[in-house]
Amino acid sequence: MSFNAESFIRAMPKAELHIHIEGTLEPDMMMELAKRNKVTLPHNSVEEIRTAYQFGSLQDFLDLYYAGMSVLKSERDFFDLTFAYLTRMHQENTRHVEIFFDPQGHTERGIVFNTVLDGISSALEKARKEYGISSRLIMCFLRHLSEDSAFETFSHACRCKDRIFGIGLDSSEKGHPPSKFSRVYRAARDEGFVPVAHAGEEGPSSYVCEALDDLKVKRIDHGNRALEDPLLVQRIAREQIPLTMCPLSNKRLQVCPDLTKHPLQKMLDAGLIVTINSDDPSYFGGYLTDNFLAISDALSLDRQALITLGRNAFVASFLPDHEKQKAIDDFDLFISQF
Ligand code: HPA
Ligand code: ZN
Repeated sequence: MSFNAESFIRAMPKAELHIHIEGTLEPDMMMELAKRNKVTLPHNSVEEIRTAYQFGSLQDFLDLYYAGMSVLKSERDFFDLTFAYLTRMHQENTRHVEIFFDPQGHTERGIVFNTVLDGISSALEKARKEYGISSRLIMCFLRHLSEDSAFETFSHACRCKDRIFGIGLDSSEKGHPPSKFSRVYRAARDEGFVPVAHAGEEGPSSYVCEALDDLKVKRIDHGNRALEDPLLVQRIAREQIPLTMCPLSNKRLQVCPDLTKHPLQKMLDAGLIVTINSDDPSYFGGYLTDNFLAISDALSLDRQALITLGRNAFVASFLPDHEKQKAIDDFDLFISQF
């Protein structure tokens, strides 16, 4: 029987390592929460919101992303948002998620840090109990804001170490190099937070080097432009630093408008640990499965490439060793039976 990539992708046990929880806010929930919280939105219908989602650059997207999150106010809102994503992930056979959140996107508009964290973490706990989905929470610093603001956010995280596993760096990349955050990353590493950072999405390959050298990250989020520096590619392969790729995000933000030209296969061929993720699924037109389907179709990925990508997500996860091994064994069992 010939290999059916779509059924394989749908059935495969999955993990997602690059997902911004605020980027899962679907237009219908946005409208509902706007009504619940008496927030006026610039758009009057789900269709109008979807039509507005046309982005020429990362910044075009970020402007709408921050406007959209203004409807999130109460702990219940953050719970509903997170649990809706986890329910979707359960339907897609996703077993493990590592979720970014952007506290400064909320504290800057007067929402209390713990309102955000309590809502997200109670949804994670419910999904663990009801769906068996394991998770890690990664708190991102908004790189367009100051180092002082990052330090203030970090001080909140220090009080909630039991629920925040790692720190990340996101928002407008150009002009905000990783080195701007060297000191807060050092402080966070000293407190035991695991560091990751967005780098080389729109910014140059030197930002990927800085993320490795100055921030000492354990994974690079995106990292597309690392390919412009062959020595850097060799280093990422040698040090086995995973890259969390987001195909539909790359397409919609014009990082790679034509997915048939996406560098994913080249990265696999260079021995990089690459994973597939959705980034901000409600803005970029697809969740985890959709991202697998889109890139598999565009690059005509074969069974072996899909297996590597699927397994990489567990390999690159921050699960403790014994849980990671169990997840990989479950994945391999699925492969042997499919
Ligand atoms: N890049 C940078 N910042 C972000 C993104 C992204 O793709 N999504 C949400 N914040
Ligand atoms: Zn991202």
